[in-house]
Amino acid sequence: MLRDALPKIVTPLPGPKSQLVIHKRASEIPSSISCATPCAISRAEGAVVEDLDGNIFLDFVGGIGVMNIGHSDPEVVEAVKKQADRYFHPQINTFHYSEYVDLAERLNRLTPGSHKKRTAFFNCGSEAVDNAVKIARCYTKRPNIIAFTGAFHGRTYMAMTLTASANPYQTGFGPLCQGVYRAPYPDLYHRPQGISEDQAVDYYLKQLCNMLDESVSPDTVAAVILEPVQGESGFVAAPISYVKELRKICDRHGILLIADEIQTGYCRTGRMFATEYWADAGVYPDLMTSAKSIAAGIPISAVTGRDEVMEAPALGGQLGGTYGGNPLACAAAMKVLEIMERDDFAAKARAIGEKTMKRFREWYEAYPVIGDVRGTGAMLSLEFVKDRETKEPYTEAANTIMAGCKKNGLVVKNAGVYGQTIRLLMPLCLSDEQLTAGLDILEKQIALFVSGGNR
Ligand SMILES: Cc1ncc(COP(=O)(O)O)c(C=O)c1O
Repeated sequence: MLRDALPKIVTPLPGPKSQLVIHKRASEIPSSISCATPCAISRAEGAVVEDLDGNIFLDFVGGIGVMNIGHSDPEVVEAVKKQADRYFHPQINTFHYSEYVDLAERLNRLTPGSHKKRTAFFNCGSEAVDNAVKIARCYTKRPNIIAFTGAFHGRTYMAMTLTASANPYQTGFGPLCQGVYRAPYPDLYHRPQGISEDQAVDYYLKQLCNMLDESVSPDTVAAVILEPVQGESGFVAAPISYVKELRKICDRHGILLIADEIQTGYCRTGRMFATEYWADAGVYPDLMTSAKSIAAGIPISAVTGRDEVMEAPALGGQLGGTYGGNPLACAAAMKVLEIMERDDFAAKARAIGEKTMKRFREWYEAYPVIGDVRGTGAMLSLEFVKDRETKEPYTEAANTIMAGCKKNGLVVKNAGVYGQTIRLLMPLCLSDEQLTAGLDILEKQIALFVSGGNR
């Protein structure tokens, strides 16, 4: 079975059949839609991908956090086939259908907090973010939104405006949306030199408060949008002590708190949602966006929020879209959630996290190019630096190590403003043997880089 396989590279990469696809791609689709892995795939199961030339890879990218359940899970495939036999697309403004309603009910129950919630479905993460902003503005009747440095919220106009990296995401696409302000994300590793982690939390809170005093009046702010663990910036977790104070600041000023769980959701962080860690401290977001791993690769996203907030857009047709909550995607999502709860995927993520962090810590001791090791559940990353004191990003290290991994059958992806961080988003269904094999390949490439062997 492909899902049990270990990596095996049988041709130079890309192999001859992959080359044909890659060549055609180069002339037929925009170059801006880039691809980092030199192969074209034939099939995928669990954490394993086979290319057209018979090369077998371990996939530690998982569709960028979409494949927590694993590629082509047989139960999900069956659920989608069954739905396809009944109907594809009645359209939610045209017919009632139970798949949409049942999935909404499930998310209202699963997301943290026993308060009354409602859920609306869209097609991708960016669209969920845009709609969360629409809902927040409509409820508060205020125009402004605060987002954070390092944030990634997507590529539609509002989501792109909320996204921090001007380069590359916004380059050439302006003008952007109005009403977005940016506060420093509570990044403990990159805190100002000479202060402790506790002092850093105070420092970051002070920066936010200064902003509310000087740059944007709090009574004009509809919402603060925060990733519980930032994804594209390299898996940086917001400390709970920061989130607790942030909630208080929001409450004091009538500002909504939006948690963007698009990359953290659906068991990645060792809980069904990362905001369950917030809930342990009594903090709940008003609105939550989720997408990616909800439906094993079928496009669907969600905004789940407090009843009265979600009910603010009152006029028919204000929220939604042609495809939002398509029944095929809903059927896949229902099955994914059933499996995740039944087989305790959150525990699987915690076990992967523990084993990987143990290896990461050993590597930190052995390889000075590693500046920081981070992990929340199975949201795991290694940041490469030229110097541990200055923390100067070492992009070349990340790039060389990633390229070496691919040549040996492990697909990994980088993150961080400078691409200096390697992040792991392996499907949570992978076997212990596959995890070890993947980590062994990664370690070998780090060691080779340090010794100059793969440069
Ligand atoms: C935290 C976060 N928000 C939003 C998005 C945008 O999602 P999509 O690419 O589905 O539009 C992403 C995608 O990586 C993300 O990680």
